[in-house]
Amino acid sequence: EKEGYDHFMIKEINEQDAAIRNTLGEKDKIKDIVDEVKETINRVVFVACGTSYHASLTGKYLIESLVGIPTEVLLASEFKYSAKALNDQTLVIFISQSGETADTLKALDAANETSKTLAIVNVRGSSATRKADYVIQTQAGPEIGVAATKTYVSQLIAIYLFSALLADDADLLKRLEKVPDYIDEVLKKQGIIREISNNYKRDKDAFFIGRGFSYPIALEGALKLKEISYIHAEGYAAGELKHGPIALIDKNIPVVVVVPPGQDHNKIMSNLQEVKARGADVLGIGAIGDKDLIKESDNVFLINSEVDDILAPLVYIVPLQLLSYHVSVLRELDPDKPKNLAKCVTVE
Ligand code: F6R
Repeated sequence: EKEGYDHFMIKEINEQDAAIRNTLGEKDKIKDIVDEVKETINRVVFVACGTSYHASLTGKYLIESLVGIPTEVLLASEFKYSAKALNDQTLVIFISQSGETADTLKALDAANETSKTLAIVNVRGSSATRKADYVIQTQAGPEIGVAATKTYVSQLIAIYLFSALLADDADLLKRLEKVPDYIDEVLKKQGIIREISNNYKRDKDAFFIGRGFSYPIALEGALKLKEISYIHAEGYAAGELKHGPIALIDKNIPVVVVVPPGQDHNKIMSNLQEVKARGADVLGIGAIGDKDLIKESDNVFLINSEVDDILAPLVYIVPLQLLSYHVSVLRELDPDKPKNLAKCVTVE
């Protein structure tokens, strides 16, 4: 039931603090899996589709930067071209909300032939949970809206726990416990995004840019806007803009710039300048107290400055989900049932 909310999507966005808190409770079970696999693996391959693919990209950055194990991310529908390169020292991690996506299940069957498989799944008892060697159950509860929101952040927190345990990073494990509070702070300010959304409701195109950990945030923000609001949106690595797409930037194009505190901050700010110089309308998502960002952006949404680039994927996505929701509602669309999309894609 919608419990007073207009749509399931906005209800589920508002349940993300709880979804993360509950999934943090899986830590001991995840530790058991890490202990079993850590001695034997020298490579990790993530396999997923759509939003779950974006969670996987964050996993690559985490495992490579924290643990140094080479990690790749494959789209499930493209998996077969790489299957021959797997072996028994590869851990293949499948990320799927439904656990029933046909492309993902097909790849899981193939990976089981050669490698240890781990599935991170939200729907209990789904096919992926029965096929994989190991299972991490995300605790988001049922997700009714077609757009993945609370299941996405739950996948992410499961991947963060897995990576931090693999790296034996006690400091990161401790910081993860504060994430539900950071999300709660964002949710308390959601009226700001509703206001900002009015500026975007008539747009035909949008760009989302980020670097490092904020690159997958940009991809996911763009996917949400596409699927819920039917606005053509592209997520781009900020450094890649100048290799082509910057030709499209002019005063008609809004650019959402994801700028958490951290090592890439100044580089992303230069990319912001590049698009601004071409007249783009900049929506900056950054930290409270980031004076440069506030000065350079046309609109800003600000987040607790304790959320640095490493934690950003878990928190910075929330205003972007809210943006796509409100733009969709303002365009008089139904965010819970976007056209041509199904909650679970059971064809290849
Ligand atoms: C986007 C969305 C889809 C799914 C994709 C994979 O909001 O929901 O992109 O993420 O179809 O689905 P699962 O995770 O169930 O395998």
